[in-house]
Amino acid sequence: MDQDQKDILNSSIVDASEEVVNDSIRPQTLAAYIGQTKVKSELEVYIKAAKMRQEAMDHVLFYGPPGLGKTTLANIIAHELKANIKSTSGPAIEKAGDLVSIISSLEPGDVLFIDEIHRIPRAVEEVLYSVMEDYYLDINLNGQEGTRMVHLDVPPFTLVGATTRAGMLTPPLRDRFGISEHLDFYQTDELQEIIQRSARILSYNISEAGAHEIALRSRGTPRIANRLLRRIRDFAQVENIPQINQSIADKALKKLQVDSCGLDALDRKILELMVDLYQGRAVGIRTIAANLGEKSETIEEIYEPYLLQIGFISRTPSGRVITQRGRDHLKKVKKEENFE
Ligand SMILES: Nc1ncnc2c1ncn2[C@@H]1O[C@H](COP(=O)(O)OP(=O)(O)O)[C@@H](O)[C@H]1O
Ligand SMILES: [Mg+2]
Repeated sequence: MDQDQKDILNSSIVDASEEVVNDSIRPQTLAAYIGQTKVKSELEVYIKAAKMRQEAMDHVLFYGPPGLGKTTLANIIAHELKANIKSTSGPAIEKAGDLVSIISSLEPGDVLFIDEIHRIPRAVEEVLYSVMEDYYLDINLNGQEGTRMVHLDVPPFTLVGATTRAGMLTPPLRDRFGISEHLDFYQTDELQEIIQRSARILSYNISEAGAHEIALRSRGTPRIANRLLRRIRDFAQVENIPQINQSIADKALKKLQVDSCGLDALDRKILELMVDLYQGRAVGIRTIAANLGEKSETIEEIYEPYLLQIGFISRTPSGRVITQRGRDHLKKVKKEENFE
């Protein structure tokens, strides 16, 4: 597997240059945000109501697989509320003191975005409870002069949390979010619209059929759609093709090992393992990960949700099993698409 293929696989890993492009194509308003109609229409009401009451909006939790637009929505909420946003992430808040310095910088009405909120250490999480619920915090800080008790009143603000693992949030934390929204994989027509929008912003010329082909093969995920768009554009450029059309999209996607369903080499390895080694029996995520030399989180957060979504695998009490559809797809890609 080469680096390009790996990058496309690891949809949760975002490198710095990608972030720059992401910032330029990230929609900034709810109106420009494509798809997720239920989430959008609910947020529209909550934002409007908070503005009418001139109060901070209730805390919001977004959960769902990587690349579906959680960070984007956090920024949109701040933009729509005309509020400032401060962003951090679970792993960045190691100690309660880290949280205190973030919290003490908040102004009334601000949005505080905590990405990967399931990775906040437990001790910090407990401090967050009173902050979220009653807008104050009491903690013991260990300084040079020994332990001192700190009490801090916090202005009304909106916490926006994002997680790929809602199941890993403790119930007390989950309960403190007044609004909780699940993001689903996108439909093909929505992805096509996202691709056409991104192409417009990046001044790439793309045909409708070209955008449709990429949409079909983006695993229901805008981040992957945008990433494939950029890679395919490289192929078009080198081959001197002025417009991304269906044929160059298909050719480039084949080179990137992305099959007709948008599955990549590792997806197919997972399916093959289930057929060949386990002969259709139930198998646990850890076993799959160990066999493929991957982390179980990678399989669980990135691969499994989409394979479940398209019905290629299913969950049973004793593990995951491949479905007939999954088997049919494997056969088809080997025979007709010449993937190894
Ligand atoms: N609904 C959408 N419409 C247009 N672009 C989107 C949408 N959702 C996500 N994107 C794009 O996909 C990329 C990944 O979105 P992001 O918010 O970073 O996902 P997450 O935080 O859920 O991992 C961003 O570049 C963003 O511009
Ligand atoms: Mg994000």
